[in-house]
Amino acid sequence: CGIVGIAGAHPVAERLLTGLKRLEYRGYDSAGVATLAEGRIDRRRASGKLSALAARVAETPLSGTTGIGHTRWATHGAPTELNAHPHATERVAVVHNGIIENYRTLLADLAGDGYLPASQTDSEVVALLVTRAMDLGLSAEEAVESTLGKLKGAYALVFLFEAQDKLLIAARHGSPLAIGHGDGEMFVGSDALALSPFTERVTYLEDGDWAVLGPEGARLHAKSGPVTRPLHQIVSTQTTADKGPFRHFMLKEIHEQPEGLSRVIGTILDRPSMSLLPPPALPFRFSDLKQVSIVGCGTAYLAGATAKYWFERFARLPVQVEIASEMRYREPPLDPGELALFISQSGETADTLAALRYCRAADQHVIAVVNVPQSSIAREADVALPLMCGPEIGVASTKAFTAQLTVLLGLALQAARDRGTIEQERLDSLLEALCRLPAAISATLELDDELKGVSRVLARARNVLFLGRGLHYPIALEGALKLKEISYIHAEGYAAGELKHGPIALVEEAVPVVVLAPSDELSEKTFSNMQEVAARGAPVILVTDEAGRSAGTALGAHILTLPTTDPALSPIISAVAVQLLAYHTATQLGADVDQPRNLAKSVTVE
Ligand code: G6P
Repeated sequence: CGIVGIAGAHPVAERLLTGLKRLEYRGYDSAGVATLAEGRIDRRRASGKLSALAARVAETPLSGTTGIGHTRWATHGAPTELNAHPHATERVAVVHNGIIENYRTLLADLAGDGYLPASQTDSEVVALLVTRAMDLGLSAEEAVESTLGKLKGAYALVFLFEAQDKLLIAARHGSPLAIGHGDGEMFVGSDALALSPFTERVTYLEDGDWAVLGPEGARLHAKSGPVTRPLHQIVSTQTTADKGPFRHFMLKEIHEQPEGLSRVIGTILDRPSMSLLPPPALPFRFSDLKQVSIVGCGTAYLAGATAKYWFERFARLPVQVEIASEMRYREPPLDPGELALFISQSGETADTLAALRYCRAADQHVIAVVNVPQSSIAREADVALPLMCGPEIGVASTKAFTAQLTVLLGLALQAARDRGTIEQERLDSLLEALCRLPAAISATLELDDELKGVSRVLARARNVLFLGRGLHYPIALEGALKLKEISYIHAEGYAAGELKHGPIALVEEAVPVVVLAPSDELSEKTFSNMQEVAARGAPVILVTDEAGRSAGTALGAHILTLPTTDPALSPIISAVAVQLLAYHTATQLGADVDQPRNLAKSVTVE
């Protein structure tokens, strides 16, 4: 879901659509725009893609120089035109990201005064509350302020008012919002990417802030009264939000991995001396830690699950890996002064942010590994480690995942060195391998045709199993997640040792099994599990390296031979292989890989 607003001097309808286009990547299922045309609120909405909304605007154009737009990812109420934003009365139109948790109580109260909703959404209650307040004689500002005091839940809101040209009011509580400064025009959007076609000067609202936007600028208020927030110059992302020669953003982002990883490796090691760079100023010493919590959602969580093996093996530090939505409510006891690591591409995932706040309240040192430097999670952490992989547009995370893995491996090696738990020789060989990682990823990308060929086996299936042990277990989970996200084929990732405890019951000719087993001290055991599924007729796809090939040839498996690397780094390489497997399977099935159904890129509601 995304928001864009313009309090402008020039016609806005087309520009609102351009801003929304920039937010498409976040995932949505309906969209709408409203403008102020000769003092009256006029709007167009459509279910489905932005092209449907654009067609509607082309059919019945919208005039006006002030307006708001929205892409909606349905939470309360189906993705119909009626439930699409903006929600409007004659007095006010509003777009909302987030969830108003007490909307039923508020609607019941409004109904008593004759204010009835037209949609099934939680958001419309906001428009009705402001309308009632204005009917009682409050000004637009007063009506918004009194309404905000009544709302429980998370929101980013932008309001447009009848007869008040060049005025927008924006408010943030839990869902991000940025103000853009133009020349004689002001902008608002749910991230800097939405504003990038219009301006590079951006102010981020903090939680609890609300802002009054007019052509002269923005007046910001915090709960305590007027406030100022810093102005940031953002680097134009115009060029990077382009597919280039690739058919999909996802494919482009998969191919950007060697370059992105090379950049991020430059923050971990000094190439001329082949030594670890000093870590960024950390407010603790690894040698004082007794444990680490790693927290994230989705693919970011799986990066943490992989890093557990590195921290435990190299730094001898016990790691608890947590799904953020579970941790925040389970409220585990945490010893003060330990480390909590938060992994998030967007830096805005609501559950991850809530878990971060929980850990901070429990006196943990908070490090964030994020791709968006100005995001809430980056700003609330003690230290934010960047992924340096550029904006990720494809909903299914790819280049951010391998960058997360690389940053986490670097941190685990720092911890190991500082704790004296790794021999210099072993550290040197790992750094050597890290240095060669971008080349190994490039070599993996060259297997594209083979991966495409093998994906035909998956495209015919209704169920797929992914098996892996040790470091390859989280990658098996990620492979299954990627496949189901973008191809809609049911897939499960399993620890290979768990095969006999359930999933083997599913194995038959129609269930392909992807076995992730680049050679390491556990691969022989995984090969045994591969035998077990092959013996039951399952088509086997073995993802391995040169040394592991022979295990698959005897079985007639489809073999994908990845470049040989240090076993500790091989999950980063096999991650790329499972991304391409999912991509090719999905495209063969004609799926919309960049915007898979029902998924959102940035999940700012819990
Ligand atoms: C959504 C995305 C996933 C992502 C997850 C966590 O589900 O579709 O690709 O892994 O959110 O997002 P974050 O921005 O916190 O990494």
